[in-house]
Amino acid sequence: MKILVVGGGGREHALVWKLAQSPLAEEIYCAPGNAGIADLAECVNIPAEDVDTLLEFARAEEIGLTVVGPEAPLAAGIVDKFTAAGLKIFGPSQAAALIEGSKALAKEIMEKYNIPTAAYASFTDRAAAEEYIRTQGAPIVVKADGLAAGKGVVVAMTEQEALDAVADMLSGNAFGSAGARVVIEEYLEGEEVSVLAFSDGKTVLPMVSAQDHKRVFDGDEGPNTGGMGAYSPAPVYTEELAEQTLHLVLQPAVDGMLAEGREYKGVLYAGLMVTPRGLKVLEFNARFGDPETQAVLMRLESDLVEIMLAVVDGRLDECTLKWSDDAAVCVVVASGGYPGKYEKGQPISGLDVEYPDTVVFHAGTKFVDQQVVANGGRVLGVTAHGATIAQAIEKAYAAVDGIHYEGCFSRRDIGYRALQREAK
Ligand code: AMP
Ligand code: GLY
Repeated sequence: MKILVVGGGGREHALVWKLAQSPLAEEIYCAPGNAGIADLAECVNIPAEDVDTLLEFARAEEIGLTVVGPEAPLAAGIVDKFTAAGLKIFGPSQAAALIEGSKALAKEIMEKYNIPTAAYASFTDRAAAEEYIRTQGAPIVVKADGLAAGKGVVVAMTEQEALDAVADMLSGNAFGSAGARVVIEEYLEGEEVSVLAFSDGKTVLPMVSAQDHKRVFDGDEGPNTGGMGAYSPAPVYTEELAEQTLHLVLQPAVDGMLAEGREYKGVLYAGLMVTPRGLKVLEFNARFGDPETQAVLMRLESDLVEIMLAVVDGRLDECTLKWSDDAAVCVVVASGGYPGKYEKGQPISGLDVEYPDTVVFHAGTKFVDQQVVANGGRVLGVTAHGATIAQAIEKAYAAVDGIHYEGCFSRRDIGYRALQREAK
């Protein structure tokens, strides 16, 4: 079967890498892909958001399965259009993807279906929002309702910060229309875990847990990024928490979405906070996480094409997921200045070396005259597996140390929380 993967980051490289291992995959295309993906798939120069051209391409090439990486095409209704054209596509419909696209909707669903989450209120009126902040006090969290590329959340340690964030968002200065509504919620303390699950609209199959590192600098300092690294499993996530996540979070969310006329197919990503008062949902995403996917898929032993077809056809109840006992760690190599301004076009060295038990997933690269150059903020996701998190970390950093381009940097402490737990 011919497969098309939509997107061109580290997540999509990991998806292509895993899909290519399936005997069902005859040919893989990736739009737009990147220099690393080009080793495994034919890259097609169509932007991930250009749904109509993607549809034309999928029709012309008789693509048997399309897999969507990023949220933008989902929000633009790519799944609805492909499905209407009789093409198989893995991902939620536009109406279902709104669980990520509208934080207000996500909170309503959680409230209605008793899914544990932070107390909240949502506002379009600035005076009302300010009043709420003054009565609740700080710390408090302000979130833009719409898609803001992971940057629409302000964890305010003072009332003034929260008031400023509200003013910024509701004035439309930050995030435009995505900030026209804000959700203000209770500040939660604890350890974060990401849990991704396959859903065919009824049956939910959770994947192994992962932990992301959102801040740019070691020790969780500096501004939020798309993610500087991830590891799997997250030792904080016990069997008991996994049971609770399935029965109190994932299944009720999928059942609730069905009841709301928003049948949820694809990957549902729950961002969880393990607090002293139990598990709480921070957010839902309608897609695979990046860089969590790089670590999680490295551990998947089952055939990903088979699973995705079962999701699309609504027969996930026939599937089980098999996982490696190894741990996996992904260290992101980023460009100086990220998540702010950064340079592009620097040649990358050290990519032609084989690093043991390691895959160097490309996130933002391209070819210029046969040379791989940096082409983004997050450039590589160096991912390794080992018997323990400590071993996986060691292998990943050995490879990171062999790779270089001008201005590159990584966090040096990916997995530190897991190491502290392994040490205990
Ligand atoms: P979100 O996009 O909603 O996951 O928020 C981005 C990040 O902000 C999360 O990964 C958390 O680190 C932090 N965050 C979000 N909501 C809360 C909350 N209610 N309490 C504390 N931190 C939060
Ligand atoms: N790594 C966080 C996300 O994909 O949203």
